[in-house]
Amino acid sequence: MRAAERGRALSRAPLLLYRLLAEGRYDFTYDQMPVSVRGMPWPKRLNVLRSGLNLLRRRLRPWAMPLHIQAELTSFCQLKCPVCPTGTGELNRAPRSMRPALFQQVMREAGPYLLTASLWGWGESLLNPQLREILRCAAGSGVVTFLSTNGQFLDRESVLRDILDYPPSYLIVSIDGLTDETNARFRAGARLEPALRGIHRLAELKRERGLRLPVLHMRFIAMKHNEHELPQLEAFAASHGFDMASVRSLVIYDSESGLQAHLSLLPGTRSLRGYEYQGRRRIRRSDHVCMQPFWFPSVFADGTLVACEQDFNAGQPLGVLGDGVSFADLWYGPKAAEVRRLVRDEADSLSFCRNCPNQDRPVTDTSLRAVFLNPGLSNPLVVEGGRA
Ligand SMILES: C[S@@+](CC[C@H](N)C(=O)[O-])C[C@H]1O[C@@H](n2cnc3c(N)ncnc32)[C@H](O)[C@@H]1O
Ligand code: SF4
Repeated sequence: MRAAERGRALSRAPLLLYRLLAEGRYDFTYDQMPVSVRGMPWPKRLNVLRSGLNLLRRRLRPWAMPLHIQAELTSFCQLKCPVCPTGTGELNRAPRSMRPALFQQVMREAGPYLLTASLWGWGESLLNPQLREILRCAAGSGVVTFLSTNGQFLDRESVLRDILDYPPSYLIVSIDGLTDETNARFRAGARLEPALRGIHRLAELKRERGLRLPVLHMRFIAMKHNEHELPQLEAFAASHGFDMASVRSLVIYDSESGLQAHLSLLPGTRSLRGYEYQGRRRIRRSDHVCMQPFWFPSVFADGTLVACEQDFNAGQPLGVLGDGVSFADLWYGPKAAEVRRLVRDEADSLSFCRNCPNQDRPVTDTSLRAVFLNPGLSNPLVVEGGRA
């Protein structure tokens, strides 16, 4: 979060507070996906309120349980994207699929407080063989959920059934080119056909059954080799049945070769870049206030909890969930306090903070803009009782 954004959030506090306490309502945008939660249960209202205090003072023992969580459904992938540690093979954690029992534990213990859960990490979510159980638990959790996929398994009837029976709030499909050639320049090994066939089918089944969810979201990372396709993006997404499309900037991760690959893929159009550059050097910024360890941890597929998803090899684990270890034990534990102190006071001592993808961006969101294509869909997505 930028310092100015923190200031704006604090200046909106009286209105937010009134809506939160009087109506149980909280409106927010998650990486260009707008959501309005209404009629929130009291534990969640109070947690949002207490979380706001983290903006005033980032205590090592935070004022609240997290607002957001990332749950890594798998730590492996069939593609080889060049600016992703999984794609490049720099992820050295064992390839694992999250067990439903672990996901259930997270949702049982943290779910009553969470606004959102992102159902992905450093891997391809649809490769989890127990996807159905996880989606079932997510759909019943009262949390707004986002599921991101490279779409390569979306042509499987069983996957479509799982998604429609227990829909996430938003289904994000990563497509970075309007032809197989441009898409596979980043999505190495991907084909458009399974992803597009799956979306056509999902849109058709949603229409037939009168379903609102999931919101079908095409996410496109703007790069050198695909920026010329942007004028056709909306028409392409609409013609294939997507409800919305967004343009995302290419971000860095903690790796020297990843940084070089990032530079070689930068779009020529400056407004499509995530950062500003002087020659090949990224211009550093000092107005970043990191909130990640205070309200947005990640649970990796094997149960390891980390303060920030950018710690992709879990170099600073807060601990491992399960076997009698609860979410609160780790969230409020001594290791979490130590990692928060490092992130807050000595960020330069952590390589994932030195190479933080958020620090040098002029805005908080990675995505640059989004457009809703389905006039029948409410914008923002209204979610009653925290449940979509
Ligand atoms: C790491 S991926 C994991 C989920 C899934 N495998 C996928 O690709 O959608 C999660 C999200 O990060 C995005 N992403 C991956 N590498 C990126 C990069 N270098 N810059 C910006 N977004 C990136 C993907 O497009 C996707 O929306
Ligand atoms: S599809 Fe997703 S997880 Fe797989 S390599 Fe690409 S960005 Fe990484």
